[in-house]
Formats: sequence, C-alpha cells, structure tokens
Amino acid sequence: MQKQKLYNTEIEASRIIYGCMNLGNNRNRPELNDEEMRREAVKSVNAALEHGINFFDHADIYGRGKSEEIFSDIWKAHPGLRDKIIMQSKCGIRFAGDPASGAPHRFDFTYEHITNSAEGSLKRLKTDYLDVLLLHRPDPLVRPEEVARAFDDLHKAGKVKYFGVSNHTAYQIDLLKKYVTQPLVVNQLELNLIHSDLINAGIITNQRKPETFIRGEGTLEYCRLNDITVQAWSPLALGEFNKEGSDLSNVISEIAGRRNVSSEAIVTAWLLKHPAKIQPVIGTRRPERIAAVCQADSIELTREEWYKLFIAGRGEDLP
Ligand SMILES: NC(=O)c1ccc[n+]([C@@H]2O[C@H](COP(=O)([O-])OP(=O)(O)OC[C@H]3O[C@@H](n4cnc5c(N)ncnc54)[C@H](OP(=O)(O)O)[C@@H]3O)[C@@H](O)[C@H]2O)c1
Repeated sequence: MQKQKLYNTEIEASRIIYGCMNLGNNRNRPELNDEEMRREAVKSVNAALEHGINFFDHADIYGRGKSEEIFSDIWKAHPGLRDKIIMQSKCGIRFAGDPASGAPHRFDFTYEHITNSAEGSLKRLKTDYLDVLLLHRPDPLVRPEEVARAFDDLHKAGKVKYFGVSNHTAYQIDLLKKYVTQPLVVNQLELNLIHSDLINAGIITNQRKPETFIRGEGTLEYCRLNDITVQAWSPLALGEFNKEGSDLSNVISEIAGRRNVSSEAIVTAWLLKHPAKIQPVIGTRRPERIAAVCQADSIELTREEWYKLFIAGRGEDLP
C-alpha cells in the first residue's frame, strides 16, 4: 500500500484507512455473541494490516465504546504493533440519555467533554496516546477558546499528538482556528460516488438550477488551500453503488472488467484519483472485501474514466 504524508505532521499514512465503526457491532446480526464478534474484529484488523493499512479510525461512540474496547484485543495478537500504526479517534457526540434520562442526542465541544472523552478512548483502546483526535460533528454552541484549552492540555500531557475535525465547513474550521493553535490536520467528510456533493458543489456554482441545493461549497478547496487532509467516510456508500441495472453499477462493472479488478477497487480508486489526496475510510468487516478494496492502490483511473464514473454517480450530465 502506498503511503502519503499527513500534511503538517510526521505521520506516514496508508492511502486507505480502516474504519472501526462496525467492529463489535451486531446490529443486523443478533445471533453473534461477544466472543464471535471479538474473533471477527481481530480477523478484519489483521486483513487490513496484511494489505498495508496502518491507519485506524475510531470514535468514542462507535458501538457505545465497544468498537474501541474490542480493537484493543489486537495488541495481544501483535505485541509491539502500537507504535507502528496510527490511531485516530473522535469526540463530541453525546447520545440521548447521557448523562441522565431526558438529555437529548446532541453535540458537545466543552472542555470537560473533550478531555473526558479522549481519556475514555485511551482507556478502552488500552493505549497511552492517540495520534489524531477529531471533533466529530460541529457543535453550534462551540466556544473555540474552550476547544483550544482542551487540545493544549491533551497535547501537553502527551495524550494526543494531532487534532482535526469531521463534517466541518470552511467557516467552522476558521472559527476554531481563531483560538486553536494546534494545527487542524484532518477533515473527515462523507464523500463517495453517490454522495459527491462536495465535488459537485464546485461544478454547479453559477448554474440556474433552483432545485439543486449546494452543500459544503468550497470545503474541499479550503482543505487543499490549508493543507488539511480530507478523509472520506462511507467511501463505498454502504455498497449502494452495486444496485443492479443502475447506470453507475454498469459503468463500474465495465471499467472493473477492463482493468481486471473488483468493483470496490474502482469506487475507491475514484476517490484516490482526486488531487486533494483524499484518504478513503473503509468500513467493511469482511477480509475478502478489504482485499477487493485495496486493489485500488495498484491502479490509477484515467481522467475519462473518472468523469464517466462521476457523471453516472451524480445521475446527470455536466453543465
Ligand atoms: N465522521 C463521521 O461522521 C463518520 C460517519 C460514518 C462513518 N465514519 C467512518 O467511516 C468508516 C466507514 O463507514 P461505512 O461503514 O459507512 O463505509 P463503507 O465502507 O462505505 O460501507 C461499509 C458497509 O457497507 C456494507 N456493504 C454491503 N455491501 C457492500 C459492498 N458491495 N461493498 C462494500 N461494502 C458493502 C459493509 O458490509 P460488510 O461488513 O458485510 O462488508 C459495511 O457494513 C466507519 O467505520 C467510520 O470509521 C465516519
């Protein structure tokens, strides 16, 4: 797997990230018991490692803490692994009922919540430090000076090396930067062939199309201008690209067949082709699908292929 430097850090990151949200989660498979989920998680993480993935994405809320907790089984299987991989987690989302019944699902960027959440992640992951900590979803009540203090304290204590955000617009990042002096090195955003709004926003600007609602205009360009690495969550659109008979699945199959790689590889290569050096954060638990995705590292789509996929994914021709 090719590596790329995370801007403003010394981190040499694999181009593809393994997302741990589905580890330890038996939402659609209630028949799996805890032990089976643990074994499955170790197999998934092993498959990612075998394919050269060295970057793992977590959040305090994944599986309500279970995903981080289960991931820590990997240290027993691979002593000495911790310093060879990059561990990222997120904070800032609180579930309904936390800390007491009646509290709504909400976002929380207070000093106490950020620092407590990071401590909780360290404990569950059984590690002394996080390489990267992200703010999960923008909190309208954010006081950037509090975020700055939390980040500085976590950094000074050696608990977090680098910081970033997720699902943030350019202005929201600028607001944080008014006080936060730690560099913000990542913005993790939803981006895939079906949900390509962040790229589409730059194309439909100035079009007279009142029915088209532009979301996130300028976010990608802002990240490129400011050396913030973009990470794409749900890069495989949960498998939706495979919908039988759709234009998109036909285009993907045609290119995959010609290049002798999987459809998953084509969908992932579409993100890797973007000059922002986007890192797809993949979420499949299946070793065979992890292998299929990682074939993307060995191909580069032509501009023609990239546009063909983009047009099929957005569902209409370009202006
Ligand atoms: N920052 C944020 O707000 C945010 C939000 C969501 C996710 N994330 C991060 O992004 C990671 C990936 O998210 P995701 O799981 O939604 O992404 P994804 O890689 O697009 O989707 C993977 C999911 O789709 C299923 N799937 C079904 N058919 C598939 C096919 N043909 N190809 C690929 N997958 C198929 C997989 O099931 P199988 O396991 O059976 O393959 C798996 O459950 C998460 O683990 C998390 O780290 C971040």
